[in-house]
Formats: sequence, structure tokens, C-alpha cells
Amino acid sequence: MKKLLSEFDSRRILVAPSLLAADFSRLAEEIQRIEEAGADLLHLDIMDGHFVPNLTMGPPVIAAIRKHSSLPFDTHLMLTDPIQYVKPFVAAGSDHITFHIESGNDPLAVIAAIRDAGASVGVSLRPRTPASALAKVLDKVDLVLVMSVEPGFGGQSFMADMVPKIAELRRMANETNPRIHIEVDGGIDGETAKLVVAAGANMLVAGTSVFRAEDGAAPAIERLHATQKLLPAQE
Ligand code: DX5
Ligand code: ZN
Repeated sequence: MKKLLSEFDSRRILVAPSLLAADFSRLAEEIQRIEEAGADLLHLDIMDGHFVPNLTMGPPVIAAIRKHSSLPFDTHLMLTDPIQYVKPFVAAGSDHITFHIESGNDPLAVIAAIRDAGASVGVSLRPRTPASALAKVLDKVDLVLVMSVEPGFGGQSFMADMVPKIAELRRMANETNPRIHIEVDGGIDGETAKLVVAAGANMLVAGTSVFRAEDGAAPAIERLHATQKLLPAQE
């Protein structure tokens, strides 16, 4: 059974550790470790060497790890032409699919393809893409993913100038889709999380700060959940 994002309350802080920072030689153990540490979802970064200058994993890897986790799979497609990969990723075990508004396909067609496949839908934007680029789709998706680094690599520094964009998207969503999830991805740790949550984000992707935390994954996830009190009330 899939667990769609519509089943999660967007007034709650949700932590989605990014598998990109895990030890790739021991994926099943790494996923079990963050699941036990309190992760809400697992964030999967899918790169094609074209939309971004890096390659990661495809549907066979997702299908293999699906057997080792009960966490919902939050799948971030950094792909040119994502529409042709929607079905294979959902069939492999993705519960949620986020695509990039800059990816070249008609956004309404990608949204329809994801819904038809039975997953919940997110749309993402690169740091240079303004919030206004999402005006026409905000009421049709379950989630918007704000990139706070240039997509392609883990371990980069958080771009603080993305904070006003989060606040702008929160304001836009209050008009058209107040229960939307606002997710932020890139350079998130216990400190940067405070800034993005205060601006209205409720979903935190964190690779390095969770998988490579010196004091372990559970305290790292706890620091992210602790930002709950900063989340502004929704209208
Ligand atoms: C970057 C990816 C991120 C990345 C986050 O393209 O979308 O999910 O793995 O990694 P950290 O948390 O290390 O910045
Ligand atoms: Zn990501």
C-alpha cells in the first residue's frame, strides 16, 4: 500500500533524510538506521547526468531497497523528460514523485501522469527559478520542493537567499492550496532548518546532517523535529 503525502498533516514537521549521503555499500542497513532514528520519509535523489551533472540510481535500486523499508519513498526526479520515468519509479515503490518545473515537459501532463500512476505529486524549482513560475500549478500538487542548493550534489552550503522564496510560496499557497507541503532540500541542519521553518516550510530534506551526524542520526532528526514550534500557523 502506498502512503501518499495527502495522508500527512502539513502542519507537522516531516523529516526526509536523503539517501545520497548514506554508505551506498550498505543501503539496507543505512535505511533501517534512519528509520529507527525517527525519519518520517526517505528522500531519493534521482539524477540523469543531463538535467544535472551527476548520476545516481534508477528503478532497480528503488525496487531493491523497497523490501527493506516501510518508510514512504519521497522521490526527487532531477531528470530531463521526467514523464517517461514516472511509471517505472512508482512501480518500483515510490509513494511520492517530485519533478522539476524546468525539466522540459508540460507540467500539467507530468502531474496527470504521476496521479495516474497512483503517487502523490510534487513540483520543484532550482534556486534561480522564481516562485511565480509555479503560480499555475500550485493548486494541483501536494508539495512544492524549494532547492536551497544548486541540484546535483549533496554536502553543499545552504543558500540563505532562498528563505524569502519559501515565504512567498507560503503566501501564494495560502490563497490557493493552504494544505500544501513546502519541502526544502540542500544544506539543511538543525540551524538552517530554523530559518526555513519560520518562513513556512514543513518538510526537511537532510542528507549530510543526518547520515553523517557525529552524535548519530536520532539526535540529528530530533534537532530537525524540534523546529516544530517555529512553524507559522496556516490559514
Ligand atoms: C541535491 C539533492 C539533495 C541533497 C541534499 O541535488 O537534491 O537531496 O542530497 O544533501 P545535503 O543535505 O547533504 O545538502
Ligand atoms: Zn533532493
